[in-house]
Amino acid sequence: MPDIHADRILILDFGSQYTQLIARRIRELGTYCEIYPWDAAVEKIIAFHAKGIVLSGGAESVTVDNTPKVSASVLTMGIPVLGICYGMQTMSKQMGGQVEIADKREFGYAQVKFETSSELFSDIAGHTLDVWMSHGDRVVRPPTGFKIIASNESAPVAGIADDQRKLFGLQFHPEVTHTEQGKRILQCFVSKICNCSATWTAVNVIHASIEQIRRQVASDHVLLALSGGVDSSVVAALLQQAIGDRLTCIFVDTGLLRLNEGDQVMEIFARHLGVRVIRVNAGQRYLDALQGESDPERKRKIIGNLFIDIFEREAGKLENVKWLAQGTIYPDIIESAAATTGKAKLIKSHHNVAGLPSKMQLQLIEPLKELFKDEVRNVGLELGIPRAIVFRHPFPGPGLGVRILGAVEKKYADLLRRADDIFIMELKSNDLYDSVSQAFAVFMPVKSVGIMGDGREYDYVIALRAVETVDFMTARWARLPYEFLSHVSRRIINEVAGISRVTYDISDKPPATIEWE
Ligand code: XMP
Repeated sequence: MPDIHADRILILDFGSQYTQLIARRIRELGTYCEIYPWDAAVEKIIAFHAKGIVLSGGAESVTVDNTPKVSASVLTMGIPVLGICYGMQTMSKQMGGQVEIADKREFGYAQVKFETSSELFSDIAGHTLDVWMSHGDRVVRPPTGFKIIASNESAPVAGIADDQRKLFGLQFHPEVTHTEQGKRILQCFVSKICNCSATWTAVNVIHASIEQIRRQVASDHVLLALSGGVDSSVVAALLQQAIGDRLTCIFVDTGLLRLNEGDQVMEIFARHLGVRVIRVNAGQRYLDALQGESDPERKRKIIGNLFIDIFEREAGKLENVKWLAQGTIYPDIIESAAATTGKAKLIKSHHNVAGLPSKMQLQLIEPLKELFKDEVRNVGLELGIPRAIVFRHPFPGPGLGVRILGAVEKKYADLLRRADDIFIMELKSNDLYDSVSQAFAVFMPVKSVGIMGDGREYDYVIALRAVETVDFMTARWARLPYEFLSHVSRRIINEVAGISRVTYDISDKPPATIEWE
């Protein structure tokens, strides 16, 4: 079995919105990489044993004082370095080149000529290609020893190389899919220049994780809160392969799940994948606890606290459990690190079962903590989890509890479940499900007048919500076809007695949030 961490790239983050994309592209090429903040201690950088370093882009301008700089020793360690956008500008400036504010800021597509041959460009030298630019500054004179390897009108120095010292800079973003041949350029850097092998594959990651889990937990038992979401599902399947029956999952059916979701989770995990799952049917307890409560934050608290109570009680019945598994993934780790150093611009609050491990005196095992979401999905598919689960839209922990506006009632949850199911099934059968990032129905406890047949109806309202987003921090309402929306609306009103009106939410985030509560 190859050592999947042996050949590795380090990315120093100068704050670009594309930093995680650089990491994902490099991993897609089969090489492990991590992201450190630009000012990580040199000893930490050395200890990482990178075969190559990438300096990300960033929003700052090197033309003003006190801007983030790469530690000088990074540029003299003899390890290949690729500076992208801001990364190239700071490298140029620090090494004696000249950078100035461009007369014209450049955002979007640009055509760049790949001038001379460079190891970085392999066989694309001589071509003119579309690239993605996003910069306000530009290098006007590269440092001594560097040659210009790419250029265009507004950025005559769009790429630089010192093939001898293996230092490279690109003004454009090779990590963005809009850059034609961007992946090829990164591949030249990673495999040819840095000599990294392509061992980071889903199959190898699974083998390595299984070994690691077995070493870590030895003969102990592990507990997992299975939600049916992608992350906890993949953790369950991975742990099942590693330790079989020594994993126990607790699945709390809150009564606030989607149509037939509880049964599906049991069918897939308990029957199909052979995972030991304890299902707790707690619907009535949730309804009792939520009765009459209409404040969204208080509803969230009630649902969260009850989950912890139930989980702890069930766990208390088990013997020998020493570990709690969690579906933390790599972006959570990056965000948490940024939160503690105060560098994160926007932090998504974590909705995990945080607090459980210390309260229950269990050690934490997080088998996905090195993986990006797309890697988690590939691992899940490889482990035999159905596509419907692996590519499922995210579903909030409080479930339908935050999609029924105001006080939660079973009658409302039942209506909402059926309307939501029609919407989702139609999205799937019209090949629209994967084109949106999240879609769902929301129940409004207000009545509106309608005409059904010859009679006058006075019934509830359903709102449909579908958004496109990359990071769920900002989102654009999805432009679903009118005909499609019309069909879904007709089906819901005809098939779900109690609903007389359907609306479509056309609010972006910000200012609206994705969920209604
Ligand atoms: P908002 O509504 O904040 O949602 O724009 C962003 C993403 O987070 C999900 N979300 C939650 N997930 N517990 C969760 O586990 C919550 O309380 C919660 N609130 C929002 C939401 O579904 C979307 O994907």
